[in-house]
Amino acid sequence: MNDLAGKHIVLGLTGGIACYKAAELCRALIKEGATVQVVMTEAAEQFITPVSMQALSNRPVYGSQWDAREPNNMPHINLSREADAILIAPCSADFMAKLLHGRSDDLLSLMCLARPIDKVPLLIAPAMNREMWAHPATQRNLTQLQADGATLLGVGSGFQACGETGDGRMLEPLELLEDVIAFFQPKVLAGHHVLVTAGPTYEAIDPVRGITNLSSGKMGFAIARAAHEAGARVTLVAGPVSLATPRGVTRINVKSAQNMLEAVVEYARDASVFIATAAVADWRPANAADQKIKKDGSGKTPQLSFVENPDILATLAQSERGKRGLTGQGEGLFCVGFAAESENLLANAQTKRLSKGVPMLVGNIGPATFGQDDNALLVLSEQGVQEFERASKLELARKLVASCAYATKDKA
Ligand code: CTP
Repeated sequence: MNDLAGKHIVLGLTGGIACYKAAELCRALIKEGATVQVVMTEAAEQFITPVSMQALSNRPVYGSQWDAREPNNMPHINLSREADAILIAPCSADFMAKLLHGRSDDLLSLMCLARPIDKVPLLIAPAMNREMWAHPATQRNLTQLQADGATLLGVGSGFQACGETGDGRMLEPLELLEDVIAFFQPKVLAGHHVLVTAGPTYEAIDPVRGITNLSSGKMGFAIARAAHEAGARVTLVAGPVSLATPRGVTRINVKSAQNMLEAVVEYARDASVFIATAAVADWRPANAADQKIKKDGSGKTPQLSFVENPDILATLAQSERGKRGLTGQGEGLFCVGFAAESENLLANAQTKRLSKGVPMLVGNIGPATFGQDDNALLVLSEQGVQEFERASKLELARKLVASCAYATKDKA
């Protein structure tokens, strides 16, 4: 996808060993469709050369406020006026202190000060030693910078170039990319807590075997990401899948349908939207064996009997809060179900929406989408049926999140 198509980003590098990651970040931004203008401080040039950054960004790099290439000799004005955002990555402790005081003795800080504050957002990705990061001066500066309107993209934790371990590493390029993409998405679910279930469940037969299904969890994870991008607080209750957790999303791992129900009931308490994408096993073995079931050599197969699992979506939809959320207005829980069908999608989905008692149900053809990166959806609600044509799961998730936001728009 070209999530940053049409965006022009000024990528500012300040002095820090994390400059090597800025090279990768520059490539990633461009790959996603952005144009990137690199501006470097003198200290940054100690760590990576402007030649590398020029080659990667395909534009001359700026470093001095006296750069005569600009006809009016005002690169701080020209470069900041054309930007959709200024991203400082890495942002050193020293540069943060400088920004805080509005000092402007080099091109990058001058440009940050000269930017139209309401039109050109400033995003910072700090990078420093853990003691520098934890220092009250840094933390104080950070709080003030955020109060002044800067967006903090956070820091990573782990092994640092100095040999110490702790907080303060710059986030990885792909994490920063995800954050930058999220930054530009409309915040249509700000103020909401969105709860999502995803993936299959696993129903144990004995300690080493169980019953599960082919759900990959990709659609649910994409919805969790899209809801976070839309400004919601997101809890993702995931069955056993090995997908990476989307940035900023709280993930609760569960195994069985029963575990999933317990987690969902707990986290639904203060949620305003519940989106059930999980492929919950309909049945579980009635009595899971405590020890591994052994072959006894007779050729006889174990006799398994099953009991029905609780219907998580229906339980929530029929709860007091679920009923109050039916209209999408007021203090209730707006429940959205998925229907994985193999035929007669519209008719089956319509029946399922009514039988589950949910205001919105999304139909898809299970075998055509399990494990894929794209999908096609039918979105059914009281207002009618909307068709979302085949697209990537993330694109569809963003459209679905917009529909949920529309349905609950007076609620947050
Ligand atoms: N669901 C649930 N708990 C279950 C079964 C399903 O929460 N025990 C939810 C799914 O997450 C999905 C919706 O209900 O949002 C429909 O799931 P689906 O598997 O399509 O339908 P079922 O209700 O299982 O009905 P059937 O298998 O007969 O089509």
